[in-house]
Amino acid sequence: MDTLDALYADSLANLQETESMASLEVWYRDNLGRKGSVQLETRKVGQLPPAERPLFGQQINKIKQQLSAAYEERLAALKAAELRAQLAADAVDVTLPGRRQWRGRLHPSTLVLREIYRIWGDMGFQVYRSRDVETDEYNFELLNIPAHHPARDMWDTFYTTTPGVLLRTHTSPGQIHAMREYHPQAIRVILPGMCYRYEQITARAEIQFHQVEGLAVGRKISLADLKGTLAEFARRMFGQETGMRFRANYFPFTEPSAELDIECFICQGEGCAVCKQTGWLEILGSGMVHPTVLENGGYDPARYSGFAFGMGVERIAMLKYGIDDIRYFWANDLRFLEQF
Ligand code: FA5
Repeated sequence: MDTLDALYADSLANLQETESMASLEVWYRDNLGRKGSVQLETRKVGQLPPAERPLFGQQINKIKQQLSAAYEERLAALKAAELRAQLAADAVDVTLPGRRQWRGRLHPSTLVLREIYRIWGDMGFQVYRSRDVETDEYNFELLNIPAHHPARDMWDTFYTTTPGVLLRTHTSPGQIHAMREYHPQAIRVILPGMCYRYEQITARAEIQFHQVEGLAVGRKISLADLKGTLAEFARRMFGQETGMRFRANYFPFTEPSAELDIECFICQGEGCAVCKQTGWLEILGSGMVHPTVLENGGYDPARYSGFAFGMGVERIAMLKYGIDDIRYFWANDLRFLEQF
């Protein structure tokens, strides 16, 4: 009986020393397991004189029950401690300073494009998209610029390795796509997109830039409509007091043709690198759609007329935001881009 009391005291003391589920498991195996110390004692019952067996048996059962209860209690305590430790490790320190949220910004070209869409949308023009990779036929021939025509020099072209396929030099080929899709209905569309030219890069000229083409075709469209609509656009874009002038010009696909200049905001008309010291910045080319082009689009030039224009989006952004060099637009310098 003394051995049993000592066994009990020992086991209980060892149990209190377990500090993890792993050590508790080891304790269980060594004490209450099939080959554990309590079980080994149980087997001794048979060696005792029969008179002593009941008392010994009762005592060992009592020890077994008490140790089992103590084990359950220890198990619960260790589980709770483990949970507490896990919660403490996962805790959020609400006193830590927050991480800075980086928010994207819209590129100045996108900002101006959206403003352009809005203004023309208010005047009843829908956006019509066409592709960046064009054929010679659409970029030139159907616009009344046959092969070897000297006017081709106005657009220095990036050609692809496929004959007759090029990067569009202007958004004007979209005019033909739109007319062929819509004829014989009246048209009022703007055609935005990136254009590509094999040009010397300067403060005012890039090899890629956005244009927004405009096209209105109907039964009674006149030069006065062209002039009034474009002047209204410029006032809505730059303000009511904007200085502007139309300058006669030549485009093979319009007749007559004119360019619209806006007073240079960067130098207030004094003359700078952006306006080539003239005090004016050309923002668009325009004109009455040439009869040949109307015909190529499926409209009878005897019954229909139209006006068209093509404006430079970055040039407008430069004027609007006072940007003095077009090379900033695609340089990917965050110091520039974060200002908008
Ligand atoms: C054209 O591209 C004609 N397709 C415009 C047109 C359309 C005329 C419809 C008549 C009827 P131009 O090459 O001038 O024209 O270009 C038009 C505008 O694009 C220019 O006024 C300018 O604002 C812009 N632009 C032209 N080249 C560049 C360049 N390298 N970098 C930035 N903007 C440019």
